[in-house]
Amino acid sequence: MPREEGSVLGTTSDQITETVLKAVSGTPNRRTRQIVEALIRHAHEFCREVNLQPEEWLYAAEFLKRCGDISDASRHEFILLSDVLGITMVVDTLAADVPDGALEPSVLGPFYRAGAPVEPNGADIARGEDSDGEPTHVFGRVLDPHGDPVGGAELDVWGTNANGLYENVDPDQPDYNLRGRFYTDEQGRFELWTVKPVSYPIPVDGPVGDLLAATGRSNMRPGHLHVIASADGYRTIVTELYTDDDEYLDRDAVFGVKGSLVVRYEWITDEQKVIVSPRKRPYWELQRNLVLTPGRRSIQFTAGREEQAR
Ligand SMILES: [Fe+2]
Repeated sequence: MPREEGSVLGTTSDQITETVLKAVSGTPNRRTRQIVEALIRHAHEFCREVNLQPEEWLYAAEFLKRCGDISDASRHEFILLSDVLGITMVVDTLAADVPDGALEPSVLGPFYRAGAPVEPNGADIARGEDSDGEPTHVFGRVLDPHGDPVGGAELDVWGTNANGLYENVDPDQPDYNLRGRFYTDEQGRFELWTVKPVSYPIPVDGPVGDLLAATGRSNMRPGHLHVIASADGYRTIVTELYTDDDEYLDRDAVFGVKGSLVVRYEWITDEQKVIVSPRKRPYWELQRNLVLTPGRRSIQFTAGREEQAR
């Protein structure tokens, strides 16, 4: 039986786009409608631009399924995919409205773990043996844009050991090794001991690894210390501090490096200092103040995580 003119099967790809947009035009929530409509328009246009073939589309669907299959409590392949495509940094940059000199955001990464132990200032979060890495002293103050101290600010800090592994993907490390939460005193001061960050590869045994290989890219990240800085009345900043002499600083697999986040560690050998340090051997030292921007504290990294900590 001949099709009626104008039926769906007889339409052009542009007309299909119009039909689909019409189907979602009644979305009650304005923001949901804006996002879904843009997704449809851009996705359809993407297919047209590259003349996407059915087998390529099936490959993409299978790729996304594999991202889900390989993800678990300690691995989030979709975040990793977003990171290596630079989407995370685009979103963070759009959301970042911090004045000059204030702490800028960077990627959260897939290895964040909520509910790290709360530690007193000066505590050492290298909970394993000396093999955790080179001892490192990190201290400074959390300040507001006028230079006044922010007391009671929380710094959630985490990093890898010397092998470039986070404890939640390394059964040889103690629970919550190299993770801890610290609170600033009334002068805005914080102080902790950890190990010096090392560059490490992001996992390539999943679909994201296939993508990096297909595009001829490195899977290395420059050494960095993860920090989530939060305080009542200030914007929560999820960020990383990057080591200045790292060979991968200018080719981070996830595009997280910003100039203001590059820091320098000093090598301390002074015997007077060494003798009172936790490991009693020469160590690295990073002094760094963190300036927070007035705004709303994120719910994501406060209420929810206390829940998970229990
Ligand atoms: Fe990391």
